[in-house]
Amino acid sequence: MRLAVVPGDGIGPEVVAEGLKVLRAVAPDVEATPYDLGAARWHRTGELLPDSVLDELRQHDAILLGAVGDPGVPSGILERGLLLKLRFELDHHVNLRPAKLYDGVRSPLARPGEIDMLCVREGTEGPYVGNGGVLRRDTPHEIATEVSLNTAFGVERVVRYAFERAVARPRKHLTLIHKTNVLTHAGSLWSRTVEEVSAEFPEVTVAYQHVDAATMFFITDPSRYDVIVTDNLFGDIITDVAAAVTGGIGMAASGNLDVSGTNPSMFEPVHGSAPDIAGQGIADPTATVLSVGLLLDHLGRPELAKKVNAAVAFDLSTRDPKATIRTSEIGDRLAALS
Ligand code: NAI
Ligand code: MG
Repeated sequence: MRLAVVPGDGIGPEVVAEGLKVLRAVAPDVEATPYDLGAARWHRTGELLPDSVLDELRQHDAILLGAVGDPGVPSGILERGLLLKLRFELDHHVNLRPAKLYDGVRSPLARPGEIDMLCVREGTEGPYVGNGGVLRRDTPHEIATEVSLNTAFGVERVVRYAFERAVARPRKHLTLIHKTNVLTHAGSLWSRTVEEVSAEFPEVTVAYQHVDAATMFFITDPSRYDVIVTDNLFGDIITDVAAAVTGGIGMAASGNLDVSGTNPSMFEPVHGSAPDIAGQGIADPTATVLSVGLLLDHLGRPELAKKVNAAVAFDLSTRDPKATIRTSEIGDRLAALS
């Protein structure tokens, strides 16, 4: 297993070290090559993602990323020039974000119930493609456009992937989340695609919700969800709500997948570089370790993914909720349990 590792900035290197510790415990054959990308490199050299580095990344089976960013980098530079560039260049069309409420983890909800949802967010289209521009900037007549791009090809492959995941889960339920009543053009494409693909998956029951209603149900009745499929922007927003009700950002894992396997997929915790706690050894590495679980699953090692997930479940069910988190202690414990 050839793995490219981008520790990044802030707590990124701290949590990635623990992710690798756990990965090595279950897959000693992993060959990890570190890549220096992120805010630190940009400050030093002005570089974001040189083509030569991108070519090297392509030679790997997968990428593990910590987080990039610090307060000294203007907004949008790393997002557009590094994170989104990686997703677009490597065709990461599925952004997979599970949200599960583990035993022992406190949810802020009054009645959380059982929460185990898998959000399949479109990753390379929607309003994130950079299709827009600005005219008459800094004048009272400024015009700014940000066009949402939705292709039949792009929507279909994501919807199909979501159905494949749904049919393999016990509940076999899929919810499309969109805003079809207002965004009628894109909404119609998404609805028709779900309807068409659903014919191939008769065992899967299908529901639809507007995104605003969904944010409400994530809080009042999250156990109604199994697999969710949604566009890039809605998925970005609702998965933060999902993370919040299942224990917070320190536990939210994600995978950016090229389902075709042509390019390496990239796995990363949903959180950022957390400059407020960086360097103190108190970041929770659980999100990164769960991302390693997704990585193992994706690379066809589901038995190893199961071990990692079971270790996390056991650790969470036995954690003292009042004790301060020590990043490396959790990593040690998860590696020993895996
Ligand atoms: P953040 O996720 O870094 O932090 C938000 C809050 O959650 C902070 O209070 C932080 O201490 C806490 N937190 C995050 N991860 C944690 C963990 N593993 N354990 C315990 N607490 C944790 O988001 P924020 O503050 O908006 O962004 C900080 C920097 O990270 C910015 O430069 C931003 O651009 C970047 N960022 C990078 C991402 C990526 O690389 N994919 C994603 C999100 C933000
Ligand atoms: Mg986000």
